[in-house]
Amino acid sequence: MYITKLCVNGFKNLKDINISPHPKLNIFCGKNAQGKTNLIESIWICSGVKSFRNTKDKGMIDINGEVSNIELSFQDDNREQIIKYNMARPNVKEKNVFLNGVKLKAPSNLFGNFNCVIFTPEDLDLSKGSPDNRRKFIDLSVSQIKNSYNSVAVKYENILEQRNALLKNINQGKSSKEDIEVWDMQLASMGAYISLLRYNYTKKLNSFAKRLYNEISKGKENLELKYYSTVFPDLEDKKDYRGEMTEEYLNCLKKSFNDDIRAGFTTKGVHRDDLNGYINDLPVRDFASQGQHRSLALILKLAQAYILKEENNEAPCILLDDVLSELDVSRQKFVISKIDNMQVFITCCDKNIPFDKKSSGKLFFIEGGKIVKKNR
Ligand SMILES: Nc1ncnc2c1ncn2[C@@H]1O[C@H](COP(=O)(O)OP(=O)(O)O)[C@@H](O)[C@H]1O
Ligand SMILES: [Mg+2]
Repeated sequence: MYITKLCVNGFKNLKDINISPHPKLNIFCGKNAQGKTNLIESIWICSGVKSFRNTKDKGMIDINGEVSNIELSFQDDNREQIIKYNMARPNVKEKNVFLNGVKLKAPSNLFGNFNCVIFTPEDLDLSKGSPDNRRKFIDLSVSQIKNSYNSVAVKYENILEQRNALLKNINQGKSSKEDIEVWDMQLASMGAYISLLRYNYTKKLNSFAKRLYNEISKGKENLELKYYSTVFPDLEDKKDYRGEMTEEYLNCLKKSFNDDIRAGFTTKGVHRDDLNGYINDLPVRDFASQGQHRSLALILKLAQAYILKEENNEAPCILLDDVLSELDVSRQKFVISKIDNMQVFITCCDKNIPFDKKSSGKLFFIEGGKIVKKNR
C-alpha cells in the first residue's frame, strides 16, 4: 500500500501540508526542530497506534491553535481509501476518526487498514534494551495483524494493576486473600490468550528474521528467536488458550500467590515475558556485541514489515526517522535493499542519502512546520 495524498494542518507545528507522496521513495529534509518527525508521526497515528513518541493528546494540537486535522489517502491492492484524524480543543481526548467517511469508535479501529512500520533511533536498542520494549514490539506487531488483540492487552494491564493493588492491601491486612480470585480468573484467560498469540507471532518472526540475519551476517551467523514465557514451560503444542491452557495459567498464579503478596506485585505472567534471541546458540542478552544487537534490532523491524506484507498481501509503508545516519554504510545498504519495493518515508538533515541516483522519488524540504520546496 502507499500514501497518495497527505494533508496536515495544526498537528503540532505542521501547517498547510498538502503533498502527493511518491509511491516508492520520499525524503523529508530539513534542519533540526522543523517538523520532520512530526510529519512522520502524523502518518504513524493514522495506522491507529498511539504516538511512538508517547505524545500526550493535548501535545498533538498546535500550542497556538485549536484544531489538528490529518487527512491521509492511501491506495491498496483494490482501491483508494481515506482516513481523517481530527482533534480539537478543549476536548482533546475525543478523536474524530473517519475511514472512508464512516466515523470510527476509536483510533485503534484503524488497525489493519493502513499499516506502517517505523524505525527510530530508539528502536536500535530493541535487542539490547529492556524486555518491556520487546513486549511492546510484539504486542504492536500482533495488533497489526489481529485487530482484537490490542483491547485484550489493554484490559490485561488494567486487571493487573488492580490485582497488584489488592496484593498490597492483602500484605497490609486490609483485604482478604479470597478477593484475589476474581482477578485471577480474568488474568488467566487473557494471559493465556496473549501468550498463545505472542508465541505464534514469534514463530513467524523467527522464520523471517533467521533468513535476514543469515544474510546480514553474510552466512556466518545463525539466529534463533524464542518466546520466553514465565508461565508456560513449553508452548509448542498449545492450540487453544481456553480450557487447559487457562487452567495452567491460573495454577501458576496460585503457586506464586504468596511470593506475590510479599513482593507486592504479580511476579509471573505475560507482563514478565520476553523475546529471547540466540546467535550461534548463544543468548544475545549475554553474548551479543553492539553490532550484533544493532543488526538484530533492524532485522526484527524488517521481519515485522515482511509479516505484515505476507498477512495482508500488501506491503506496509516504511517510516525511517533519523535512523539511517545512525547506521554504518553496510547496514544502511542492507536496510534499503530490503525495503526497495515498498513506499518509504525518510527524514534526514542533509540530502546525501545512500540511495541509488537512478531510483526515482520525491524530496521535500521542511522549515517551520511547512513544506518550503519540493524536488523531482
Ligand atoms: N503541540 C505543539 N505545537 C506547536 N509546536 C510543537 C508542538 N509540539 C512540538 N512542537 C514543535 O515541533 C518542533 C519539533 O519538531 P520535530 O518534528 O521533532 O523536528 P525535527 O525536524 O527535528 O524532526 C519543535 O520546534 C517543537 O517546538
Ligand atoms: Mg526528528
